[in-house]
Amino acid sequence: MKISVIGCGYLGAVHAASMAELGHEVVGIDVNPHRIDSLQRSIAPFHEPGFDALLLKNSSRLTFTTDMSASADATVHFVAVGTPQSADGSADMTYVNSAIEGLLPYLSDGDLVVGKSTVPVGTAERLSEQVQPTGAVLMWNPEFLREGFAVEDTLSPDRLVYGVPAGDDGDSATAILDEVYSEIIAKGTPRLVMNFATAELVKVAANSFLATKISFINAMAEIADVTGANVTQLADAIGYDTRIGRRFLNAGIGFGGGCLPKDIRGFVARAEELGVGDALSFLKDVDDINVRRRTRVAEILTEELGNLAGKTIVVWGISFKPDSDDIRDSPALDIAESLARAGATVVSADPEGWKPAQARIEQSGLSDSLTTTADHRVAVAGADALVVATEWKVFQGENADTIGELMSGNLVVDGRNCLDAEFWKAAGFRYRGMGRA
Ligand code: UGA
Repeated sequence: MKISVIGCGYLGAVHAASMAELGHEVVGIDVNPHRIDSLQRSIAPFHEPGFDALLLKNSSRLTFTTDMSASADATVHFVAVGTPQSADGSADMTYVNSAIEGLLPYLSDGDLVVGKSTVPVGTAERLSEQVQPTGAVLMWNPEFLREGFAVEDTLSPDRLVYGVPAGDDGDSATAILDEVYSEIIAKGTPRLVMNFATAELVKVAANSFLATKISFINAMAEIADVTGANVTQLADAIGYDTRIGRRFLNAGIGFGGGCLPKDIRGFVARAEELGVGDALSFLKDVDDINVRRRTRVAEILTEELGNLAGKTIVVWGISFKPDSDDIRDSPALDIAESLARAGATVVSADPEGWKPAQARIEQSGLSDSLTTTADHRVAVAGADALVVATEWKVFQGENADTIGELMSGNLVVDGRNCLDAEFWKAAGFRYRGMGRA
């Protein structure tokens, strides 16, 4: 089948390559010429495990271009552009709207337009009306991939969700997308067909639930801090209840990235527009708890070191999660910047995130007090304190004795509760976790 994918960011680029892996002929389209140039040369423009190999393996069925007219040959068109956060918290629909407008002249009778972007409920209905006069049908097929596992999640998803229009159009849209995903469906992947509003809500509800789970355990960490309890043991204990489950109960400096924070804010903004803001008022608490986590590290450092001005602090981690170079709304980078603003000399180390962080640090005017490196060992030389802000495996497996010898001080703040506390204490460190006294 001939497929176009509009938008080649983390979601679209991985989706395009994955569709080629399923045997389809795919053109990826994006307005960013640098990104397209890189993808066309089978070089991933961002760090995502397995993605380079997937691009290379399927290069004969994959092309990338900035020219929207290339979509004319395709019969299925995925819309995978970003919906960033607007100043008022709502989702910015500029890219979705311009993708659909750009696509309209190239749509033919019988084509299928498949929305994958995370959008405010009500969007698919509106876009469906726009697409209808071309004879094409629109459906919504939200994506649930996690960065760091994007290829695996696209090719082996937990479920497929189809939001379709009522009647024959819905049936034909379902049949076409079933054909596109036939290999995935054949593996027994659950496939749920529903109306537009439900499909749009499934996506934001899932991310809101995950965000709530993280903020719940971080709220418990706040209580643990003043009671002497250990939040990791608490999470283990409640997690054995299969109704609760242990996953996404890791307390620490909270969630970041290009999805969870902006999706809960966008959901709240949309509920308020719909006159049901009260239903989601709890998500504001989820957001507040999460934002508080980022200041907790500076509080702990101040408790231990006093005034941070003049101190040298090394922060391990810049990207918002391990196995990613994504620094969007990264708690790690936010913390490094706030420590630099407090007068500390900060060295941030991250195997991948250090590269994209450079430009942002220059923009924030902090380059004199905040530097980045890929080498986390070099970074610790002479440091008064070490903060672990992203749980890369290479940090977790580090030898505490060696690190202790390189540092001037002996304080480690484990912002992700990912280190073996006893091991670091045995190496002479003062260990402070998040909610585990
Ligand atoms: C998230 C969802 O998990 C995906 O299902 C969804 O498809 C995606 O957003 C999206 O909307 O596109 P992602 O942003 O890649 O995926 O990251 P997560 O793995 O959800 O992690 C988000 C943040 O939560 C990270 O900063 C992570 O460190 C933090 N986190 C995660 C915790 O603080 N504690 C946990 O227990 C788990």
